[in-house]
Amino acid sequence: MSGLHASDGTHGTGDHGAGDPAVAPFAWHPRPETAADTAAVRRLHLAAFETPGEADLVDALRRDPSAWLPGLSYVADVPDGTPAAHALLTRCHVDEVPAVALAPCAVLPAYQKRGAGGAVIRALLEAAREAGERTAIVLGHPPYYPRFGFAPAASRFGILPPQPWPDEAFMALSLDGSIPPPGTVRYARAFGID
Ligand SMILES: CC(C)(COP(=O)(O)OP(=O)(O)OC[C@H]1O[C@@H](n2cnc3c(N)ncnc32)[C@H](O)[C@@H]1OP(=O)(O)O)[C@@H](O)C(=O)NCCC(=O)NCCS
Repeated sequence: MSGLHASDGTHGTGDHGAGDPAVAPFAWHPRPETAADTAAVRRLHLAAFETPGEADLVDALRRDPSAWLPGLSYVADVPDGTPAAHALLTRCHVDEVPAVALAPCAVLPAYQKRGAGGAVIRALLEAAREAGERTAIVLGHPPYYPRFGFAPAASRFGILPPQPWPDEAFMALSLDGSIPPPGTVRYARAFGID
């Protein structure tokens, strides 16, 4: 399940540890990615994950117009303009109803746990709301995603994962306040989940 992570909590390593005063006080200003960010976004995923799987996944999603949602790929920069955090939403379906899938999310190791990931995810979900998207899903760390409003998809909404993933890790969020439709999630082909 490339790009989808439930609970391992493993990260790459960086030059700066948590609490490094050189990188601690950033205020993040998330923005939609532009064409100029593509290479930096790939480098970011290569740095954040142990394998190139997520970087390759983002590139594959970018090439698939049925998956890629222009304006729903967000970055947050360090002061020199380098993206330090990235998150994106791509088209998925709950049975036949369109929804958006949050994955992958990544922050450069040197800047993790400083709010960058949370800032891009919040901005991205707000952009999805404004774009009229109704339901977001995520397979992710159970302690992390509820802070954005996500709740266990199967037990709360009857939204089933395409594979038998743990209820607490497979989460859904209503973006418009309506009750999301029950059904089984189908991810974009690039995820390789059938
Ligand atoms: C997961 C990730 C995107 C979070 O972004 P971040 O900027 O580091 O996180 P934030 O600063 O917004 O939030 C910090 C909180 O997230 C928690 N957190 C960070 N990484 C976590 C992980 N792997 N598992 C569980 N919780 C995690 C921190 O403990 C902290 O919790 P607290 O607020 O209760 O103290 C980032 O750490 C990352 O890129 N990790 C490596 C790649 C990865 O695992 N991506 C997610 C799967 S697609």
